[in-house]
Amino acid sequence: MSKKIMVLNGPNLNLLGTRQPDVYGEETLADIEAACAGRGTALGLDVDFRQTNSEGEMVDAIQEAGAAHAGLVVNAGAYTHTSVAVLDALLACEMPIIEVHLSNIYRRDDFRQHSFVSKAALGSICGLGGHGYELALEALARLLEDS
Ligand code: DQA
Repeated sequence: MSKKIMVLNGPNLNLLGTRQPDVYGEETLADIEAACAGRGTALGLDVDFRQTNSEGEMVDAIQEAGAAHAGLVVNAGAYTHTSVAVLDALLACEMPIIEVHLSNIYRRDDFRQHSFVSKAALGSICGLGGHGYELALEALARLLEDS
């Protein structure tokens, strides 16, 4: 049976493709979702792909993942840098968490260089665009195989 993985996207990531393409690329979130579904199938993972602009909905989704999913890939968008509520929800989860950012947050504004999400993530991938999500799924597949 395939293992269920949530891929959770935070605010403004629904705008990918038109939002600052010089920073975030031209891929849409639907493109990334399709790539994750394909990569997930190849890895034996069932990918539950989500996006929300709301902090409370992110917390709800993380709680749901903690109760029913084998792992979580999270790009919390701007909540990465601001949300203790998202961090607390992540810390309450037992499953492996991989943090993803499309852009290299360490080459950008100072305020983007602190991540609350990193405190709960096993690993972080940033700066590789949509490919980072596929790499995160690969990492989770390996971690879940080993566990
Ligand atoms: C982002 C980086 C964040 O700083 C920003 O607020 C985002 C997207 C990324 O994927 O590069 O919304 O998480």
